[in-house]
Amino acid sequence: MAIVSIVGARPQFIKASPLSLELRRRHREILVHTGQHYDHGMSDIFFKDLGIPAPDYHLGIGSGSHGAQTGGMLSAIEQVLEKERPQAVIVYGDTNSTLAGALAAVKLHIPVAHIEAGLRSFNRSMPEEINRVVADHVSTWLFTPSATSRDQLAQEGISSGVHVVGDIMYDALLMHLERAEQRSRILHRLELAPKSYYLATIHRAENTDSQDRLTRLFGTLNRLERPVILPIHPRTSQKLREYRIEPGPNVRCLDPLGYLDMLNIQKEAACVLTDSGGVQKEAYYLEVPCITLRTETEWIETTTAGWNRVCGTDEEQILAAVAELGKSRPSHPNLYGDGDTARRIVQILGEALQSNG
Ligand code: UD1
Ligand code: UDP
Repeated sequence: MAIVSIVGARPQFIKASPLSLELRRRHREILVHTGQHYDHGMSDIFFKDLGIPAPDYHLGIGSGSHGAQTGGMLSAIEQVLEKERPQAVIVYGDTNSTLAGALAAVKLHIPVAHIEAGLRSFNRSMPEEINRVVADHVSTWLFTPSATSRDQLAQEGISSGVHVVGDIMYDALLMHLERAEQRSRILHRLELAPKSYYLATIHRAENTDSQDRLTRLFGTLNRLERPVILPIHPRTSQKLREYRIEPGPNVRCLDPLGYLDMLNIQKEAACVLTDSGGVQKEAYYLEVPCITLRTETEWIETTTAGWNRVCGTDEEQILAAVAELGKSRPSHPNLYGDGDTARRIVQILGEALQSNG
């Protein structure tokens, strides 16, 4: 059985790591890298550190406006699918690579499997919200991380092909954490004592594309009582230069980190401040309190469990939340499965494809 997997952006390499391994035990996987992320620290380092097989196709699309980037991918993915004629196409998450992969496949009548289906921010001004809604509505198999996302799909009239399988990023974390603890020297390299610092990541368009919000965010990070370590996404460093914003004395900017260093530095942080989807979940898995620098989250269960506070860019809210989080230790149930997501997805897909002949 030939199955094409589409990846292109940093979190998709991480998600592909456990799934590729499992998929290749039983099927022929054809891995397609759209080239959405291309810097060494945003792409190659993940393939190398996580042992992800080299892509069979690298489309080299790169950066661009939404239309140019998605259009370029759509056309290039179509050519791969025409040539390979796989039985299914797998897409992950909510990036432009997800949208292009799902559309290219469904137009060729190739069934789509969407991993991380059913998530919603209910904010249609986010590019990711459009991408995930479209991907869900053209998919044959919808693999959701939780019952909440399954119920959301039901509300939108999608109930067939929906499977609650947990979070693939939890598989990735469990697969690599021990190696991260053994190999990563990041705390030593940065001369950081455990729990003496906060870790921040900022890259969402809603924060980076507004000079006012970005200025306010850095102002707030400079008012925190512990130093802030910020591995910086290329989009954000570009915007800091464009707006001439100085990070400030309390913020230590680093190049983007590899996954093993990132896990280690998250694990030992006193608190995480982020607008990333993946980092919110990892903070939860690592039992580190999280402040979400957005006005909503798709990972709502982490907030109801008491480990994540959605604060937007409101300085007083952020400062109050940092002061409060970590004072008590809420219970810590498995919100998104037990780390067996890859195996479950491959089993469900395998059975479905077998019965399709
Ligand atoms: C994309 C996803 C976002 C995801 C994020 C993960 C979309 C619409 N957004 O956002 O959902 O959370 O990836 O990190 O798909 N750049 C580089 N080098 C790179 C990659 C990007 O310099 O290797 C710079 C370019 O100037 C580019 C900008 O970053 O224009 C934004 O990159 P893009 O891939 O469009 O979106 P992200 O912000 O990375
Ligand atoms: N990540 C990383 N290095 C970094 C920043 C993030 O390895 O410098 C990892 C992080 O641990 C998580 C994933 O990238 O696994 C999250 O990706 P990102 O924040 O880029 O995108 P999002 O999850 O918001 O789509």
